[in-house]
Amino acid sequence: MENESTKLLEIRDLVLGFNIEGETVNVIDNVSFSINEGQIVGLVGESGCGKSITSLSVMRLLPRNAVISKGEILYQGKNLLESAEDEIIKIRGKELGMIFQEPMTSLNPVYTIGDQISEIILLHSQVSKKEALDMAIEKLKLVSIPSPEKVVRQYPHELSGGMRQRVMIAMAMACDPKVLIADEPTTALDVTIQAQILDLIRDLKDRTKSSVLLITHDLGVVAEMCDYVVVMYAGHVVEEADVFSIFENPRHPYTIGLLRSLPTLNEDRERLHTIDGTVPAPKDFPKGCRFAPRCGKATEQCLNEVPPLTSINGTHRARCFSITEKVGDA
Ligand SMILES: Nc1ncnc2c1ncn2[C@@H]1O[C@H](COP(=O)(O)OP(=O)(O)OP(=O)(O)O)[C@@H](O)[C@H]1O
Ligand SMILES: [Mg+2]
Repeated sequence: MENESTKLLEIRDLVLGFNIEGETVNVIDNVSFSINEGQIVGLVGESGCGKSITSLSVMRLLPRNAVISKGEILYQGKNLLESAEDEIIKIRGKELGMIFQEPMTSLNPVYTIGDQISEIILLHSQVSKKEALDMAIEKLKLVSIPSPEKVVRQYPHELSGGMRQRVMIAMAMACDPKVLIADEPTTALDVTIQAQILDLIRDLKDRTKSSVLLITHDLGVVAEMCDYVVVMYAGHVVEEADVFSIFENPRHPYTIGLLRSLPTLNEDRERLHTIDGTVPAPKDFPKGCRFAPRCGKATEQCLNEVPPLTSINGTHRARCFSITEKVGDA
């Protein structure tokens, strides 16, 4: 049974919308999940499912037109949504570190790498500029950047994509956060560099005993990295379970679809399955199950009613009417 006290970060019933031309359109709907100490949790789903917005809510870095109408984000039991801005500034970077989806937009082109890392250190610790720069060099060593003494004097454009991503990780880890949120940390990189960055994240997590929320649309990455998986579709959590159950006993047709589109060694690319259709825009979310229009098994009920998240086994839950029957049978 899961121990409540090991929950480090918990998102509870989050409902979030965007104000568009005077109207609020909900994008995240009753999303709940938690991250335990030492865990790597994967947040998975296609583009537009609400992964980044969920993580930006945790960091309290939402766009101006975002409106949270319900829910709590508990970090060590404290609701971050009720924390004052100065408290959040202390927590952000220090307790919760984030690698953003677009590295070039979060690295400032006019400052050196050393300035950018030491700025974060100076914000959270009482050290001199010189000490902060030395600490920045240490952080670059931690992420295996060669010649860190040279790199601290360089500007972002002087580094390769892989090295920039390492710098981003060094920035996120600058103050030894307890939770690292990594939003698609490898999407923009080529395959060999991807593997190195994933190894680095796992290694850092082990060494610093932190937890990771890893956002990705790639179930291959999930298989390699994660302990626990939360699958999102159109602003809903549609399935969650430990990584073994997700791969061995997926229950939501969306998860099954994502798994079928995963390349396997004995299958060539041409024969890969894809899920027909696309994620609807929030203003066009269907009234029943949001996946129903793309689901081969959808019934009249699926088109008209939202299925509840149903318990399958332990923490394994899925939002699909077909499960209610099977659980009932068991
Ligand atoms: N500032 C905004 N105003 C209105 N809608 C927004 C805004 N930012 C994001 N959205 C919408 O919120 C939804 C969720 O976006 P989000 O960026 O969280 O998706 P994602 O799952 O991270 O996708 P991707 O895999 O492409 O990064 C999308 O429909 C997006 O268009
Ligand atoms: Mg995103």
